Amino acid sequence: KASENDVIYKAHDFLAKLYNHCMVKTPEGKGAREYLNDRGFTDEMIEEFQLGFAPDSWDYATNYLQKRNYPLPKVADAGLLAKREFDGKYFDRFRNRIMFPIWDPKGRPVAFGGRIIGSGEPKYLNSPETTLFQKGKFLYGFHLTRSAIRMKDQAILLEGYVDVITAYGNGVQNVVASLGTALTKDQAKLIRRQTESVVICYDSDKAGTQAAIRAADELIEAGCYVRIAKMPDGLDPDDYIQTYGAERFEKDVIGAAPTVMAFKMEVLRSGKNLSDEGERIRYIEEVLKEISGLTKAVERDHYLRQLSEEFSLSLDALKQQVFQFHKEGK
Ligand code: GTP
Ligand code: MN
Ligand code: MN
Ligand code: MN
Ligand code: MN
Repeated sequence: KASENDVIYKAHDFLAKLYNHCMVKTPEGKGAREYLNDRGFTDEMIEEFQLGFAPDSWDYATNYLQKRNYPLPKVADAGLLAKREFDGKYFDRFRNRIMFPIWDPKGRPVAFGGRIIGSGEPKYLNSPETTLFQKGKFLYGFHLTRSAIRMKDQAILLEGYVDVITAYGNGVQNVVASLGTALTKDQAKLIRRQTESVVICYDSDKAGTQAAIRAADELIEAGCYVRIAKMPDGLDPDDYIQTYGAERFEKDVIGAAPTVMAFKMEVLRSGKNLSDEGERIRYIEEVLKEISGLTKAVERDHYLRQLSEEFSLSLDALKQQVFQFHKEGK
């Protein structure tokens, strides 16, 4: 079993190096390299994250693996190759894509994300789950960034591979990304083992906002102190850092990130006209429901006072309502 896994580790390592060589050293990789350079990825960033290029070929990786005597059926099971139905021949699964190796916490590549150059579907083609790669158990970049997370005693949770690479390459090194799924309990625990303090900075769109709130709940449950950063509409951390620089990102986005509750209140508030009595009451109720879900009495008290002051409502009435919601389990 151990040696069976060994060949899969080796195949990933071999292909990561091969794809990287193709991107950095061969004419075939020039377009991919230029695409990344145009997006602000330096040669150092490409090297550090071992980015590569899978050429537009059905048998590029297959031929190399065969020449090196890799067992193709096993390599195919690991999602690196695919099998043609009618004659059982193996062919490259990743073609004409920029390759992002995905490492396990020990720094061994165990999967790939492959991005199309420019626009097209699917934007990212990822390795399937295998015994060595369970995407809900890993965080992208973690083996590189873990020490920075510890040192800064803070983790910044991002959405995508390129967000991690751009942040890290520009000096914001305490970053990780979940791997294209909702943050899992296992991932929350991985983070919690390094630090108590987390800032979530997902894409500034509706999907990102909702996903950030869900991730926050998971991290809070794991025992973290969580804030959720805000960025101008439509931007993600990569866009923001490429446009405004890492210093402003750290100061204006990460440093100014509101608490989860304050973030939720802003989301509930947006799109409501609070000078309308009905909408105002609905807003207050929605906030009270959120407050009733807070586990710390000090926090509940803090936000109740805030609400009571802003809307000139009696603290007692608000407390009563929260108690009610709590009993109803809302
Ligand atoms: P760029 O567009 O290159 O800047 O990448 P991005 O990270 O901004 O992409 P996006 O915000 O759309 O997606 C964030 C993450 O979700 C990616 O890093 C992937 O892990 C995942 N993802 C995005 N698109 C796809 C897709 O088409 N298929 C799969 N399986 N995952 C995806
Ligand atoms: Mn997105
Ligand atoms: Mn939960
Ligand atoms: Mn992006
Ligand atoms: Mn994005």
